[in-house]
Amino acid sequence: MTPQKRILTGDRPTGKYHLGHYVGSIANRLRLQNDYECYFIIADLHTLTTKPNKAEVMGIEQNIRDMIIDQLACGLDPDKVTFYVQSSVKEIYQINLIFEMLVSVARLSRLPSIKDMARAAQIDDEQLPLGLLGYPVLQAADILMPRAHLVPVGKDNEAHVEITREIARRFNFLYGEVFPEPDVLVPDSGTLIGTDGQAKMSKSLNNTILLSDDAKTVEQKVRGMYTDPNRTRADIPGKVEGNPVFIYHDMFNPDVAEVNDLKDRYRTGNVGDVEVKKKLAVAINNFLEPMRERRAIYEAKPNLVDEILAAGNAKTRKIAQETVRMMDEAMGLLYFKN
Ligand code: TRP
Repeated sequence: MTPQKRILTGDRPTGKYHLGHYVGSIANRLRLQNDYECYFIIADLHTLTTKPNKAEVMGIEQNIRDMIIDQLACGLDPDKVTFYVQSSVKEIYQINLIFEMLVSVARLSRLPSIKDMARAAQIDDEQLPLGLLGYPVLQAADILMPRAHLVPVGKDNEAHVEITREIARRFNFLYGEVFPEPDVLVPDSGTLIGTDGQAKMSKSLNNTILLSDDAKTVEQKVRGMYTDPNRTRADIPGKVEGNPVFIYHDMFNPDVAEVNDLKDRYRTGNVGDVEVKKKLAVAINNFLEPMRERRAIYEAKPNLVDEILAAGNAKTRKIAQETVRMMDEAMGLLYFKN
């Protein structure tokens, strides 16, 4: 039996997942967990690159719990995948420092993602933290720490995986072959539009449906969704294409006949928004129901999540120690290390 290839991916601990996360990454993780050895990081140190203040740090622990429960509720299986917290694996700090020697400031400065993150956090050039410039280097340390082969990420992270490949190549060239050059895997599902129909679903825009929302909340959010603004009455023909209500129907309603019927009647002005939205709320609630059942199991036993994380952190530390040992040996950095 050939050993399984390794995957490393994950998120910053920004809080509960929403449908956009499901479509953009979690659905992919569910597929991949069966064929790969998966490591899923919660990258708390990356949060500090733009938000090092204490108030932010105070919220991280709860966010981590929420995000692990969400992923378990989705059906990611802790017997198959390894969940861990970045800051609990100190070797990542060590690997990060070595990698800082292998990439130029100029290369990092040119990345649009750094500028985007700085702008979003209202940090001007003069105040740009060294750590934010080093964001992709820390990400390279995350990815190469378990010597991963494949990195499923969104389009916005593609350049960081490219930096990771360059660092792997540079290390291997200078010291000998230690790291695979990991491939990036960008899902073609793209991003999900928010309930406001204006921008992609995002916590900061208040246009989300959370995986942890209860049935009533889902109904209420769907009722308030943006549709075709020109359709002020049910008998006015409406636009289906680009209409978020129908985008969601296509995504979450498995009853294709019902969706096609609604589309036909919408186009010809023979259905009210209320009916379209009622049926959408039912579909989304059906989609979320199995998650609610799994979530209830974990919420009834709060220690279980802690145990899963403790086991994941311990397993990850082992592999990280192995990697640091391999790096030290390749670099000849073994003196005074017994
Ligand atoms: N940069 C990712 C984000 O946008 C989070 C992250 C940190 C990550 N380390 C990673 C993703 C390693 C994939 C692999 O939130």
